[in-house]
Amino acid sequence: MGVAALKDLIVEKPVLDACCGGRMMWFDKHHPLALYVDIRSAPKGICPERPEFHVAPDMIADFTDLPFADRQFKLIAWDPPHILDLGANSIMCKKFGTLQSDSWRSVLRKGFNELWRVLDVNGTLVMKWNEESISVGELLKCFSPPPYLGILQAVNQKPIGSAFSNRRSPNA
Ligand SMILES: C[S@@+](CC[C@H](N)C(=O)[O-])C[C@H]1O[C@@H](n2cnc3c(N)ncnc32)[C@H](O)[C@@H]1O
Repeated sequence: MGVAALKDLIVEKPVLDACCGGRMMWFDKHHPLALYVDIRSAPKGICPERPEFHVAPDMIADFTDLPFADRQFKLIAWDPPHILDLGANSIMCKKFGTLQSDSWRSVLRKGFNELWRVLDVNGTLVMKWNEESISVGELLKCFSPPPYLGILQAVNQKPIGSAFSNRRSPNA
């Protein structure tokens, strides 16, 4: 995609899904205000129990190094992989990706800092998390500033959380 086309796309899209995967958390999977990004695409058929599952981002990009200007988005949704050390051929990895034990902190710290950079003043970053491998307490040590609001809710006895952070001043 050329630079001009990219600029037009972003002006019309104030909402970023930074790792959209199969867009399962979206009620509207093609919301006109949203730009859907993932580090990969994947065709239908990779997930036998959900034959329609596929990954088709508007743009391939890495949330640790995004091709966007500072303060570009008003709202960012971030649902990164949350399970450590899955095998590349496992269904869970194919659906949701994985983090590595030896690098998850630096990946998520870099991701948070990059999303903070592209989040507008008074914009909001919403993160979804599941404590299958890493507790919310451990996770939050990676982020500064910390979220000011969160929801913890048990799903299949594993807490699932959403954290909300708001960028308050141009320098914060
Ligand atoms: C938990 S899944 C997202 C599920 C999605 N929110 C949904 O509703 O279906 C995590 C996604 O993050 C993507 N991902 C992993 N590392 C990434 C990175 N560095 N940059 C962008 N996307 C990444 C994976 O490819 C995977 O699709």
